[in-house]
Amino acid sequence: MITAMKIAILTGAGISAESGLGTFRDEDGLWTKYDLNDVATPEGFGRNPALVHDFYNARRANCQGATPNAAHDALAQLARSPNHELTLITQNIDDLHERAGSPRVIHMHGELMRALCGTCDARWDAPAIMAPHDHCPQCQQTATRPDVVWFGEMPYFMDDITVAVARADLFVAIGTSAEVYPAAGLVELAQGDTLELNLAPSAQANAFDARRFGPATQVVPQWVAELTS
Ligand code: APR
Repeated sequence: MITAMKIAILTGAGISAESGLGTFRDEDGLWTKYDLNDVATPEGFGRNPALVHDFYNARRANCQGATPNAAHDALAQLARSPNHELTLITQNIDDLHERAGSPRVIHMHGELMRALCGTCDARWDAPAIMAPHDHCPQCQQTATRPDVVWFGEMPYFMDDITVAVARADLFVAIGTSAEVYPAAGLVELAQGDTLELNLAPSAQANAFDARRFGPATQVVPQWVAELTS
């Protein structure tokens, strides 16, 4: 009985770049246009919730207008391979992996399409436009926020993620600068082989056994084709 090869994959903004969603730290990235302290921290939300809602409303609209690309499609195909047991972890809050057909996506930084109540912890599908005066459907408090993990907050599912990375035969990072922890530290937890697929070397490139550079829509389908042929 041949056991399936366990693969843990971590994706970042680079896998959605060619779908037009942009990244954070490239030359035209989001953090060159917005101060992350204003739009991606609990303090920024406390200071100006309308600004933060507008920021995520614009990203939600951008995401709804985008389509998954060949890299998302290749990972969805890999999830269907009988010889591979895939755990897909993403730092991305877009839903392009799901729309490409990936069955189980672990969103460690939350989801743009979900809303959270800061008072009672209820979660629901986010409306297209969120605003500070929205009421929580469960407790009616006006404490709604995007279900997104901000800087200074604990990412979701870290127990599941660390177990999956540690037990994987292969850990692959795709489209991430490896500048933000704990995601950037996952490669150190990997016990198996490690591979970086990125446009350019990430901050952790030297921590990987192997690296392939190029646009995700070329490098990822090529890698999946080799793996599944
Ligand atoms: N194909 C592959 N990789 C690409 C492409 C592409 N077409 N375009 C850009 N990249 C790479 C860049 O070289 C860079 O290494 O994607 C990476 C994007 O890095 P970041 O913009 O820092 O995005 P990410 O690593 O996902 O950021 C991590 O930071 O701001 C927080 O919560 C946010 O989840 C995000 C986290």
